[in-house]
Amino acid sequence: MAGTAPQDTDVEGVDAGVGLTALLVAAARAIETHRHDSLAQDAYAEHFVRAAPACADWPVRIEQVPDGDGNPLWGRFARYFGLRTRVLDDFLLRSVRTSARQVVLLGAGLDTRAFRLDWPSDCVVFEIDRAGVLAFKHQVLTDLTASPKVKRVPVPVDLRADWVTALTTAGFDPAAPSVWLAEGLLFYLPSPAETYLIDTVDRLTTEGSALAFEAKLEKDLQEYRDSPIYTATREQIGIDLLHLFDKGPRPDSAGGLTAKGWSTSMHTPFDFSRRHRRGPLPEPNDALEGNRWVFAHKPSP
Ligand SMILES: C[S@@+](CC[C@H](N)C(=O)[O-])C[C@H]1O[C@@H](n2cnc3c(N)ncnc32)[C@H](O)[C@@H]1O
Repeated sequence: MAGTAPQDTDVEGVDAGVGLTALLVAAARAIETHRHDSLAQDAYAEHFVRAAPACADWPVRIEQVPDGDGNPLWGRFARYFGLRTRVLDDFLLRSVRTSARQVVLLGAGLDTRAFRLDWPSDCVVFEIDRAGVLAFKHQVLTDLTASPKVKRVPVPVDLRADWVTALTTAGFDPAAPSVWLAEGLLFYLPSPAETYLIDTVDRLTTEGSALAFEAKLEKDLQEYRDSPIYTATREQIGIDLLHLFDKGPRPDSAGGLTAKGWSTSMHTPFDFSRRHRRGPLPEPNDALEGNRWVFAHKPSP
């Protein structure tokens, strides 16, 4: 399973650069889907993996991995993505059952929530990612004759550019409540783009809106550089995550939202592994220890 994927962060599609990370998450979701104790089911995930030449030899079932759950990439790291998928599925569904009817998936990648979750019928799901990634996704889903379970609006735009115009032109209404998700995204963005994104979510949301995002503690990015998760991802499939992550200092986005009056809570993934009794638990030299899942709500005045 050795790989030598090019590491250009600006490459548009899923074949290289940061786009390839969307396929990594899809492969992890495929493996999770076929587990007897799966936390999340995504029947589309393995089709993305099989459709992309860049990952023709990646596994889509844990049985295809010689060392199975002992493999740091396809065992523990893939389980991490399965847990993250489940926790954020639950967050989005909770949010639309209360007030939000607009869902914005930032850096949506190969997320198929519009196709696999049971949404209220008047919801709309906006999927923002770069054009090449969304084009690949469209092709695979069209070949499968997959139909979304909700109104779905792909918004091909780079989040380092003027994505607000693209989103509002696509029909997003800032006057109505919304729920936003930045799953596995922010650490790829330059700090000013992350700050702009958080400020913009605040500007485009009414009371009753919500946002979940994943962040990495900067100190841990340094401390866990040789974590088995990063090493295995680089050596087995040629994705150097540390190279793809933005190198600049990270902003305190949770603190920024709290200062703007949002109520925020911050969790480690392990909080949810314990809650679900499945998923990764702490280990020595563990990059997952630096990951934080932040849930933010914009309260009524
Ligand atoms: C690790 S994947 C996560 C995808 C999806 N959120 C999930 O969890 O399955 C990161 C995604 O962020 C997207 N991304 C990274 N930088 C971006 C940018 N500047 N503009 C738009 N999308 C970006 C990539 O194309 C990729 O699809």
